[in-house]
Amino acid sequence: MTAASLAGLRILVSAGPTYEDIDPARFLGNRSSGKMGFAIAAEAAQRGAEVVLVAGPVHLPDPANVRRVNVRSAAQMHAAVLAGLPCDVYIGAAAVADFTPRSCSPGKIKKQPGQDTLVLELVQTRDILAEVAAHPQRPRLVVGFAAETDNVAGYARGKLQRKQLDLICANQVGVAGCGFESDDNALLVIDAHTERALGPAPKGALAGQLLDLIAERLL
Ligand code: PMT
Repeated sequence: MTAASLAGLRILVSAGPTYEDIDPARFLGNRSSGKMGFAIAAEAAQRGAEVVLVAGPVHLPDPANVRRVNVRSAAQMHAAVLAGLPCDVYIGAAAVADFTPRSCSPGKIKKQPGQDTLVLELVQTRDILAEVAAHPQRPRLVVGFAAETDNVAGYARGKLQRKQLDLICANQVGVAGCGFESDDNALLVIDAHTERALGPAPKGALAGQLLDLIAERLL
């Protein structure tokens, strides 16, 4: 089967982690390497789509023919993704922090004599994916990811409904060989009516299979 062409489509992809600063020396982050989202962006561009990639702090080269927007925090990713609308497809592969420190200390936080604990107050970040799905300029297709350690399909289905998505790609994290950091992954792609298992396979191959499913719905 030849790969479906995506020429004429504008695709917005988010990838990588976000870093939430605690003070000038420290941040809250996560294990996302960006590999999954970068593979999707690269494959979509290779198939002729106009691709914007909003990337958290990762050590990956720019995919060919992709406009890359680098961000650090969940708030910056929110602004960059919303600025990327309108588009035909939004694919949220980034691991966005759910909580961020209420404030970032301007100076490095110092241990006080006798101090055993430090309490950080965290506030919820804005849900980029849910906002894109509810936006007046809603893309024709809004695709989320769900990173879960257990009840993978169940939690993913909940996110599909709650965030009003067209598709969600569920993947297991916390085990070797899939999810965060690895070159391979396995996805369960869920919509309102069906579930499709993709992989295990290299993230580049999975990106192609996911884009085939997306093309089926759009072209
Ligand atoms: O980057 P890699 O090392 O290659 O790893 C790939 C991956 C595991 C990061 C990727 O496959 C993946 O699962 N990405 C989503 C990770 C995640 O944060 O999932 P979640 O279940 O916490 O979030 C659900 C969805 O809501 C995601 O599409 C996320 O981008 C989005 N979200 C979450 C919080 C928030 N404030 N805004 C969001 O848009």
